[in-house]
Amino acid sequence: MSSDRIAPQALPMTTFYAEHVHSHIHTDHQQTLQKYRNRIQAELAKFGISENQLHDKTILDVGSGWQAIVFQELGCRQVYHLDINRKHVEFLNHYITENQIDNIKSEQVDISQSLGSAKHIDLAFIAGVYHHLQNREDFIKNLLPNMTANSDILFRVYRSGTWSRWLVSALRIATIDRLTPAQLLVAYRLLHPYGLDNQFVGDMIDDLLTPQWLAFHPREFIADAEQLKLQCQCSAEPFAIDFSSQDENFRVKWHITDYVDLDCLHQPLATGQAHVAEIFDTSPEIIDLRRQLIDLLKSLHDHADRDAALVIVSLYFLVRKHTNIDVFNGQILHATPNRNLAAWRIEHLRKSVIHFRDWLSQ
Ligand SMILES: C[S@@+](CC[C@H](N)C(=O)[O-])C[C@H]1O[C@@H](n2cnc3c(N)ncnc32)[C@H](O)[C@@H]1O
Repeated sequence: MSSDRIAPQALPMTTFYAEHVHSHIHTDHQQTLQKYRNRIQAELAKFGISENQLHDKTILDVGSGWQAIVFQELGCRQVYHLDINRKHVEFLNHYITENQIDNIKSEQVDISQSLGSAKHIDLAFIAGVYHHLQNREDFIKNLLPNMTANSDILFRVYRSGTWSRWLVSALRIATIDRLTPAQLLVAYRLLHPYGLDNQFVGDMIDDLLTPQWLAFHPREFIADAEQLKLQCQCSAEPFAIDFSSQDENFRVKWHITDYVDLDCLHQPLATGQAHVAEIFDTSPEIIDLRRQLIDLLKSLHDHADRDAALVIVSLYFLVRKHTNIDVFNGQILHATPNRNLAAWRIEHLRKSVIHFRDWLSQ
């Protein structure tokens, strides 16, 4: 029991992704580069943007730096890369020097405060970033005046009401401000001493410990585009809750035809306010399951960090795919698709909650 321990602060965003997430996921540089090439090709294709259209365009990229490398490979005229994390900027600047690239500019900034030297942007690629910003309205205020006429902003954001986002939004109650990446790793190693799924581990630390985490409904981006008088393209389905195999992210394109009147920002943005849609509990069954889960997670505060980490990591195996190894036969296990996925997930979360509640009360 350790209810009187001092809770650690949430990890700062300035030293989170490079140090605790990407250090696990980006271990093989060639593989990482190929992953980002595939990702950008797929994301552009979703909006019918061909790679040829990027020639002579100015791009804004925010994140690890790998996307900037791919945009440069694709023949963009100028790539501005920004990130709050110094290590991402150092990595990219090192790459630029080594490869004698002169049309990527990488700067360490908080994009809610400044866009550095980025300007005359034709395409802003905001993938996996918006839901991590503390101040989204200030970012939009910085971004819009720096977009050219006939430019696009592509967002890829966490989708509220999908299984993984719904479950993570609850699990974070017991992790943020409490557990450390090292404690999660120890628990993972106890449960999986034989294999290490680096992607899973990086995603787990990201989901459970990133200092800022939000999930959105597409309608919020559609409402903001209307308020800003921008054209909006979003083919995401409008469901409130769907625990089947729905994509945990959705995409939105805002198109800027001409000058954006920033007076429109005098009204708060739907995606900018403190409260954004995380959960839309629709059925009594799901409301009840969430209540039981939250009770369990709150009760973890009365238990040792190691027990809490073990319960959380065990539950996290319900969040996303893990490459499992059958150590007896020395094989990687492959699951066949489950046609009743949503029901299966709900049932197994319920069973797990009961199991851990009983274990903790022993
Ligand atoms: C999920 S990660 C990267 C996603 C990106 N698509 C990639 O792989 O390059 C989110 C990134 O946003 C950065 N970030 C978070 N808040 C920021 C802020 N206020 N200003 C600039 N960068 C920020 C983090 O440092 C991190 O690199």
